Amino acid sequence: MNPLQEIRSRFAPVLGQLVDDVTPLLEMIKPAQNPDFGDYQANCAMPLKAQLNKPPRDIANEIAAQVQLDDFCEPLEVAGPGFINIRLKREWITSQLTSAAADERLGVAAVSDPKTYVIDYSSPNVAKPMHVGHIRSTVIGDALCRTLRFLGHRVISDNHIGDWGTQFGMIIYGYKHFCDQAAYQQSPVPELSRLYRLVNQLADYHANKARLPEAEQQLQQQQQWLSEKQSAPTPADKAQQKKLKKELKKLQSQVTATTQEVASMKDKIASVESNPKLHQAAEAHPHIATAVLEETANLHAGTEDNRKLWDEFLPACRDEMQRVFQRLDVKFDYEHGESFYHGQLADVISNLKSKELSQVSDGAVCVFLEGYDAPMIVQKKDGAYLYATTDLATIDYRMEHWNPDVILYVVDHRQSEHFEKLFAVAKLLGHDHVDMRHISFGTVLGPDGKPFKTRAGDAAGLESLLDEAVAKAYDVVANNDDSKPKGAELSEEERRTVANVVGHGAIKYSDLSHNRTSDYKFVAEQMVQLEGNTAAYMQYSYARTRSIFRKGGIEIDDFAPTAPLMLESQLDQRLALQLLKLEEAISDVVVEYRPNQLTDYLFALAQVFNKFFHDCPVLQAESESLKASRLVLCLLTGRAIRLGLDLLGIDVVERM
Ligand code: ARG
Repeated sequence: MNPLQEIRSRFAPVLGQLVDDVTPLLEMIKPAQNPDFGDYQANCAMPLKAQLNKPPRDIANEIAAQVQLDDFCEPLEVAGPGFINIRLKREWITSQLTSAAADERLGVAAVSDPKTYVIDYSSPNVAKPMHVGHIRSTVIGDALCRTLRFLGHRVISDNHIGDWGTQFGMIIYGYKHFCDQAAYQQSPVPELSRLYRLVNQLADYHANKARLPEAEQQLQQQQQWLSEKQSAPTPADKAQQKKLKKELKKLQSQVTATTQEVASMKDKIASVESNPKLHQAAEAHPHIATAVLEETANLHAGTEDNRKLWDEFLPACRDEMQRVFQRLDVKFDYEHGESFYHGQLADVISNLKSKELSQVSDGAVCVFLEGYDAPMIVQKKDGAYLYATTDLATIDYRMEHWNPDVILYVVDHRQSEHFEKLFAVAKLLGHDHVDMRHISFGTVLGPDGKPFKTRAGDAAGLESLLDEAVAKAYDVVANNDDSKPKGAELSEEERRTVANVVGHGAIKYSDLSHNRTSDYKFVAEQMVQLEGNTAAYMQYSYARTRSIFRKGGIEIDDFAPTAPLMLESQLDQRLALQLLKLEEAISDVVVEYRPNQLTDYLFALAQVFNKFFHDCPVLQAESESLKASRLVLCLLTGRAIRLGLDLLGIDVVERM
């Protein structure tokens, strides 16, 4: 049951008599800030003042008289300038929770209009360092899949792995020229990563060498303009002075940017030249960048040796990724990588051409879109296809095979323009019934506030992050256990199991609990704390709900939560009301695809529960019937936390 949605649906026809678009007014019906005034509050009378030319209090009274809520709410109260206070009937709350307790889904209804979703997430580039951004996509995408599925939708998860790009040209070139065979035989992926970095560094070196003189000249020019402007006589006119100041500021920031660029180029050049072996390699491969493109083109054209190498590299790279997915407990329905669509790319181009949507510009096939300076390029001058071409083929495939209502792309915010254009072109191609959305997310920052980089900068680096979180969780768990009043309770093995669950949960939870569009700082210590909005706090609260039963000598699996609820005290009531809002929180996750709606709910639930646990005796309650009622609330709290965490892909433990 979703009380808020039900209340809104009862207000809708009444408000519909007053305005055409009721949505903004319905959004003004919200959970009450102060429980003394009610459980929910409707503030929709105030904005109608001007239109109806009446005092909002009168409007509120009229609305309140018409809305039909008496089957589950107390009579509505109008307060202050025109707030409508709504209080759920206590006996209704108890009956709802009693049926929730008897229901496997905890009373959360499945949607009446299930849709088909394709969720494109994780999608790392194999053979290229997997970065924390890919963890973000993986964790958010997985939470969305789980939540949508639980709500009754058909969900197809598809990991659009980058397994066909230039990085393969790089490792093929690297393999042919620089491979340490012994290292490769022993463990291919680290060697391939090394080759990737090496080839990248050498190509970068030549690019920087070639570009440096021009950048230095540009810097000189900018410096000269700046000093000319600085020594120019101050104009008498105020407006002119202002203009000059603005120009100076702009020039100054250009000089700063170019100075930094030149310095970084010099650094990169020096890092190669100061290492004789590297320098020698660079000198021996002056055209490495072009050669890499040729290797990629040969792979795409299907030359035997490159295809053979690709076939050899790919499984090893995929295994490496699978290890991370396994640790994160993430499974995909499909993992159609970019290579899967290779045979369809020519059709994409001919389709665009026959529909007269593309144009050839500078030899490249482009789609020009209104509102964008740069076109979407779908085929380069040399015939090569691009990321966008594959994405168009992917949409064709998904529509043909799965016919989804919605396709979600969980990809970081830097690709927003790519997706805007992609969706626009797909619509032009006739895919106009599917709702395509870029579920973008912000950057993960290091403690220094700069984009986070793992020490190794690759998948191994990601695993070491998970290890670090588990190690930190171990300390927290062990400390907590050691400081229990009656001494430690967990065996060494139990401590390790708990640390594993808490550590992995911590990484996921901290990611999900941030508004996905914001950047956030990755601080492992903070993530594993038992206090605050963390996975550990939630898991700890869950374990508490279970330990009460153990303490009371009650076999939890045999406990039938059928006792009537007694909601006399304020805390019993607050906990019950919070439990009733579970469906609201789960449904909110998929409105704008924000898992933090659920973490916020869980955090609030755990806070009320811990207050309840502290202030309201359960096993020592004044009467047997109150004890039974409170045990039901504990059981429901535990189940709600477990379900909520499960939808986020996070486990619980029975004791901590
Ligand atoms: N492989 C890409 C990257 O790592 C992300 C792919 C996202 N999905 C897509 N259909 N474009 O940046």
